[in-house]
Amino acid sequence: MDNQVYNFSAGPACLAEPVLIAVKNAAIDYNDTGISLLAMSHRSKPVVDLFDETTGRLVSLLNIPDNYRILWLQGGASLQFSMVPMNLLNENETADYVNTGAWSSKAVQEAHNFGSVHVAGSSESDNYTFIPKNLNQKSHSVYLHITTNNTIYGTQYHVIPKVKNQDGFLVADMSSDILSMPIDVTEFGLIYAGAQKNMGPAGVTLVVIRDDLIGRAERQIPTMLDYATHASKQSMFNTPPVFAVFMVNETLKWIESIGGINAMAKRNQFKAKKLYDEIERNSLFTSPVNLGDRSLMNVTFVFVGEELNENEFLSFCAERNLVSLKGHRSVGGFRASIYNAMPESGVDALISAMQAYEQNHQT
Ligand SMILES: Cc1ncc(COP(=O)(O)O)c(C=O)c1O
Repeated sequence: MDNQVYNFSAGPACLAEPVLIAVKNAAIDYNDTGISLLAMSHRSKPVVDLFDETTGRLVSLLNIPDNYRILWLQGGASLQFSMVPMNLLNENETADYVNTGAWSSKAVQEAHNFGSVHVAGSSESDNYTFIPKNLNQKSHSVYLHITTNNTIYGTQYHVIPKVKNQDGFLVADMSSDILSMPIDVTEFGLIYAGAQKNMGPAGVTLVVIRDDLIGRAERQIPTMLDYATHASKQSMFNTPPVFAVFMVNETLKWIESIGGINAMAKRNQFKAKKLYDEIERNSLFTSPVNLGDRSLMNVTFVFVGEELNENEFLSFCAERNLVSLKGHRSVGGFRASIYNAMPESGVDALISAMQAYEQNHQT
């Protein structure tokens, strides 16, 4: 691309170029059908095939066992904050939650509507700069809920915790690190993720749920909010977000072309290490996050001193076509979201800008 702009947005986030090219074609004439995918019935064969293909690709990329269902839903990860406890937690039961940031707090808040919630660990008092390790789980908790990557604060689990209750299961919000590294799906009862960071555009939410958990809660659940509804209709109970699923499929094809999840994980480690190394080296910047808990997806950093002007650095970057680097308002400073689709050249360009800025401010 001429005049390449590197978009470090936390989500919706940059998409791989082949995905965008495929979008252009599908929007006009989907697979030589003469019809735009945007105007095609979800009951038509090409769309039913598209859903099967996308699900099949995800299953093979993440090595998802047969006893899990893949659901393509709407309502964002935020709706899952309610759907998870509504479908899995009875009123007289308890679930453990780890509070690692704004999104986990929202999940906790919603779960209170359906059962007892026990916060088994929290980094709130340290402005969420670390991942709590020694969790205080209840022995009878139905599930343990974690947010594997904390988009706002830039922390990430590098070791997935074990559930204390032998009959319990793990639930994970993987909105901002799904498909960035291999996972052992059998460690989880349910995984959910909004697509708009590592998987595609906003508008579709992935749920991977173990078969036996569907229908677990003994309450009346509105049809559209019941996992059973979507599992029994292959995510086609109502009109699904077809175009968003198409973009997920194209993103999965692109991941395959890179060499799959292991290759993607290597790329991500390499990119993140380069950037964190520069943050450590550069005299102007520092990371607010505990060394062992730093996110490979959302790299947060702040100025060392208070005399420097954040907006000035953001403008300096924007002049170099590096955009959306402003940190979330609750953290301040800067955040470079370097999801799968951010090329290494984008990270290099940011590092060059940080170095040039340092030179300009040499005393
Ligand atoms: C980790 C995490 N969970 C949940 C959400 C909420 O997602 P949505 O906007 O799809 O509801 C976000 C959004 O950024 C997120 O980063």
